[in-house]
Amino acid sequence: MTLKTVENPTSASVPLQFRAARPTDGASLWQIARATGTLEVNSAYFYLLFATDFGRTCLVAEQEGRPIGMVIGYRVPDDPDAAFVWQVGVLPGLQGRGLGMQLLEHWRALPALATCRYVSATVADDNPASQKLFRRFARAHDVACEERTHFTADMFPHDHAPEPLFRIGPLSHGTSPRA
Ligand SMILES: CC(C)(COP(=O)(O)OP(=O)(O)OC[C@H]1O[C@@H](n2cnc3c(N)ncnc32)[C@H](O)[C@@H]1OP(=O)(O)O)[C@@H](O)C(=O)NCCC(=O)NCCS
Repeated sequence: MTLKTVENPTSASVPLQFRAARPTDGASLWQIARATGTLEVNSAYFYLLFATDFGRTCLVAEQEGRPIGMVIGYRVPDDPDAAFVWQVGVLPGLQGRGLGMQLLEHWRALPALATCRYVSATVADDNPASQKLFRRFARAHDVACEERTHFTADMFPHDHAPEPLFRIGPLSHGTSPRA
């Protein structure tokens, strides 16, 4: 099998575009997940489904037309106030430059998530970048980041770090983070 790879851009000065995902973005979402090297990579079909059926709650960041970051999320059926981040990823060469925060801000601003006052996500105990990102997002909005037990290690069918649930909010509609 020959895999199509995403080119890793080196310049952070080129402007970025943020938009909701389209059905044709499924392959790019999968490629970014794979390129991060950290995210649990699911089947390509899974990403095609998300881009198609949940595209309005997924975000793609592009640089000169190339996808370089993404947020895959959905509205939580039993918690209509909450928008859940399933996966957020930035290509390795662009990590640590504030893009993760920008992705979350643009994702939260998607019209399909406009009424959500909480952002939730499970954050593995062994993923410091993800922990920092979500705690920083909460601090930037001056709201709580409640952390509670959610998916424990014994719930997984294989070795896996626990995934506590982070619930951030209440966020005000249309607010920007503190400077
Ligand atoms: C998590 C991720 C999306 C954050 O995006 P980013 O653009 O790198 O993050 P930012 O530059 O906005 O920084 C957010 C915080 O993460 C920290 N961070 C970024 N990369 C890090 C790393 N490799 N190790 C530890 N902390 C890291 C930053 O220092 C910052 O924390 P601070 O405010 O305390 O300084 C990105 O690092 C990534 O794609 N990681 C791989 C995929 C992943 O683990 N996704 C999360 C699970 S769904």
